[in-house]
Amino acid sequence: PAAAPTLRVNGAVHDLAGLDPRTTLLDWLRERLDLTGAKKGCNEGACGACTVLLDGRRVNACLVLAATLDGRSVTTVEGLARADGTLHPVQQAFIDHDAFQCGYCTPGQVVSAVACITEGHAGSEAEIREWMSGNLCRCAAYPQITAAVQDAAA
Ligand code: FES
Repeated sequence: PAAAPTLRVNGAVHDLAGLDPRTTLLDWLRERLDLTGAKKGCNEGACGACTVLLDGRRVNACLVLAATLDGRSVTTVEGLARADGTLHPVQQAFIDHDAFQCGYCTPGQVVSAVACITEGHAGSEAEIREWMSGNLCRCAAYPQITAAVQDAAA
C-alpha cells in the first residue's frame, strides 16, 4: 500500500489520512493543530491574514486544501522564533517599529514580510509596499509595517 499522506508543519510531521478533502489548510492548522497564529479574516483570499509559507512560498491558507499537500512543508508564524524563544528578526522589527494596532493582521504580515525579504523584494519602500500589498491592515499601520520590513531587510 502507498505510504500514508503526511504534511510537515514547523518541522513536525502530521498525518493527513482520513482528512475531509474539503478542509482548508487554515482550518486544519487552527482546529486540528491548535496553531491559531494564522487568522481567518475574509476566508476568500483577499486579506492575507491567513498567510503561511508552503515550501517557502507565501500562500493564503484559506485557499489551499490540506488534503492536497502530501509531502509538502508548511511554516506558520509559530515556527519563526528560535527554540530558545528568541524572536525572528522580522518579529523583533515589528515590535521595534510599533507595526500594528489591533494586531489581527500581524501574523500574516510577519510571515509575508519574511518571504518578501527572502525573495529579494524589500529593496525600497515602494517595492515593499507592492510586494506586501496582499496583506491588508484595517488600522492602516502601513508606514510602520513598511519601516519594520525595511529595517529587518537591512
Ligand atoms: Fe485567507 Fe483572508 S483569510 S486571505
